[in-house]
Amino acid sequence: MRTSRTSLGKRLSALCTGAAAVAALLAAGTTAHAADTPLRDLAAAKGKVIGTAVTGSKLTGTYGDIAGGQFNSLTPGNAMKWGSVEPTRGSFDWSEADQIVAFAQAHNQQVRGHTLVWHSQNPSWLTNGTWTQAQLSSLLQDHITTEVTRYKGKLAAWDVVNEPFNEDGTYRSTLWYDGLGADYIAQALTWAHAADPSAKLYINDYNVEGVNAKSTALYNLVKSLKARGVPIDGVGLQAHLILGQVPGTLQQNIQRFADLGVDVAVTELDIRMQLPADSTKLAQQAADYKAVFDACVAVTRCAGVTVWGFTDSDSWIPDVFPGYGAATPYDENYAPKPAYSAIATALGGTSTPPPTGACAATYSVTSQWNTGFTGQWNTGFTGQVTIACSGAALSSWKVNWTYGAGQRITQAWNATCTQTGAGVSCSNASYNGTVPSGGSVTFGFNASWSGSNPAPTVSLG
Ligand code: G3I
Repeated sequence: MRTSRTSLGKRLSALCTGAAAVAALLAAGTTAHAADTPLRDLAAAKGKVIGTAVTGSKLTGTYGDIAGGQFNSLTPGNAMKWGSVEPTRGSFDWSEADQIVAFAQAHNQQVRGHTLVWHSQNPSWLTNGTWTQAQLSSLLQDHITTEVTRYKGKLAAWDVVNEPFNEDGTYRSTLWYDGLGADYIAQALTWAHAADPSAKLYINDYNVEGVNAKSTALYNLVKSLKARGVPIDGVGLQAHLILGQVPGTLQQNIQRFADLGVDVAVTELDIRMQLPADSTKLAQQAADYKAVFDACVAVTRCAGVTVWGFTDSDSWIPDVFPGYGAATPYDENYAPKPAYSAIATALGGTSTPPPTGACAATYSVTSQWNTGFTGQWNTGFTGQVTIACSGAALSSWKVNWTYGAGQRITQAWNATCTQTGAGVSCSNASYNGTVPSGGSVTFGFNASWSGSNPAPTVSLG
């Protein structure tokens, strides 16, 4: 019996709902922000860059509107990596990188090039080859010269060397370190500078946001490169952070690099959480985003902050950290999350509402518009309630209402419903308590009525 009702419920939930729908908001939402000052204007007023990593093929529609409207800098998430631009030796594919640069120019945005020398996402012809030191050196020089020259004068900055250190501050064993020694870093910077003297040249790494062994190794390297006259303009702190774990020494760390005479950029910010997201986690995430932006705003030589994808639908986190996600300032449906408001606040914005999202429950008497079935007959009716979230999420739910005309629930599916007098209370089943931001859950029921059947006001608790 339950099986057939469950499938009936699924079928009914796909049908058009009746006219008498009543919605109840769980919390005031932040779904609309069109009237707010764009983040890029707030950042510009503070002399800061606000950037996002992007995927070229997605730069249309809402994704393109937000990427172009809210950010004053773009970083190609993958398009400029060696494996993307030269998948076969001597055969180049610049299409996505060119597309992103053209989009940025059309939207008056900077571009941050990413990345020239890395141990990952290299073409297999390179990683599988056997090279002498001289061959490896000239392959790297050619690669850097070719790519930097192509975009000469068009890019504000390059992440020249990416992730050169281990956690303990020793050099990471890579194709480059193992084949060329530690000076591959100085050589790469020198070759990049020769190809485009106007681009700011960075070394970029993760887990170097706070003061620790790895960031101190980076600090010592930058200090020695400066002392040698190697062209180094900045350090990139990737900042792939975990909820509630913004390092307390972030601002101090940014300041110590600034005091060396280099710029600092937060280059790949995201703040992941265990799924499902809920309003408590999203509020913590907002505080964390604000802490990062506050630290950058506080240090003059902090050039700005780039987020590693602006929407949860375009984030690397769920692929690499199963069970984690919701790491960016916009949800999968491009609704700004509390983190968005927190960024605006840190950049001096004033008009954003409190950082809460919204979930709503909608009650209706089911009707099947294309068959003439009204969902209601002389003694009974079939109804449904949909719980939908945007900018917020639920891990369990309970929907309450009070019938005003003697209606009585006789049967429910996809929820456990109890009725005491006129009061009805329906809780999630074991398998449908989770409502992610951008998602919805529907349950159904049969009930009796006589005389009239007004729709009640429902509340979500
Ligand atoms: O394009 C192919 C697609 O054709 C294929 O069907 C699919 C199957 O897995 O893979 C696609 O390529 C993926 C690529 O992203 C584009 O989406 C690769 O598998 C995947 O490994 C690659 O991940 C990228 C990752 O770097 C590689 O390490 C992420 O998108 C990218 O965001 C991430 O970025 C790095 C920064 O460059 C450096 N710092 C850390 C950061 C996060 O890992």
